[in-house]
Amino acid sequence: MRLRDRVAMVVGGGQTAGQTIGNGRAMATLFAREGATVVVADRDLASARETVAMIEAEQGRAVVQELDVRDDGMCAAAVEACVARSGRLDVLVNNVGIGTGDGSVTRITDEAWDLIYEVNVKGALHTCRHALPVMRRQESGVILNISSIASICSAPILAYKSSKAALNALTHTLATSNAKYGIRANAILPGLMNTPMAIESISKARGVSREELIATRDAQVPLRGGMGSAWDVAHAALFLASDEARFITGVLLPVDGGQSARIG
Ligand SMILES: NC(=O)c1ccc[n+]([C@@H]2O[C@H](COP(=O)([O-])OP(=O)(O)OC[C@H]3O[C@@H](n4cnc5c(N)ncnc54)[C@H](O)[C@@H]3O)[C@@H](O)[C@H]2O)c1
Repeated sequence: MRLRDRVAMVVGGGQTAGQTIGNGRAMATLFAREGATVVVADRDLASARETVAMIEAEQGRAVVQELDVRDDGMCAAAVEACVARSGRLDVLVNNVGIGTGDGSVTRITDEAWDLIYEVNVKGALHTCRHALPVMRRQESGVILNISSIASICSAPILAYKSSKAALNALTHTLATSNAKYGIRANAILPGLMNTPMAIESISKARGVSREELIATRDAQVPLRGGMGSAWDVAHAALFLASDEARFITGVLLPVDGGQSARIG
């Protein structure tokens, strides 16, 4: 019960439909198992409700919150509703991330670039803007930004990669400027994960079978066993959200089976 009596908001706590569990849903589920009351915030209400139903089926505590991170007013209302309901907000997870229409410098459109930045960077700015005053009043709080190893490794997806690098920079700034309030901010950098966001979405976009894509990605991971799962991200998130990580802030933690450590 490492998050006993804590209130956590997982933004992007629904998931892309598919055969496996996504990072946001796994984090919400694990946090609830560890005693937190979880606000499952998502643009996709049906998916957020599914996450809440799964948590409640295990006797966990969770509530649905409709939220589009692009809308600053909705982010303000979500934090307000959380505080009105539970009196506090201990953990904020910015899990939403997209790569829609991404490509190389010569191929990406301004519209695709703007959308990716609006969701991946400005979205986190919006949620943090409203969560921070609450956490400062409490003199405690944890912010977890879900970035990607694409932010530090070579990747042909320019807007996604650079938006996640901006999220890393936001994490550093959040950590340094809020340390005096007892607030910690860290980022998790997932590598190749077997989640629907990666497998179902990419196999559809590239026109390759699920099995073929899984085999290719498994072979790229240095650590024996192939890709990671959303539970690997969730366990790292649980550690960083818990008091066990009380002296850890401003860290960018790869969860990638050694992929970012490999040169060549
Ligand atoms: N899965 C991977 O292989 C992988 C690898 C590296 C990094 N990541 C990062 O992990 C995070 C997501 O992982 P996941 O498996 O939970 O993905 P997911 O797609 O399953 O879940 C993301 C959720 O965000 C919601 N969402 C999308 N746009 C939104 C918006 N504007 N406002 C509110 N909600 C919105 C979606 O409805 C969805 O439920 C992303 O930040 C992604 O960049 C994933």
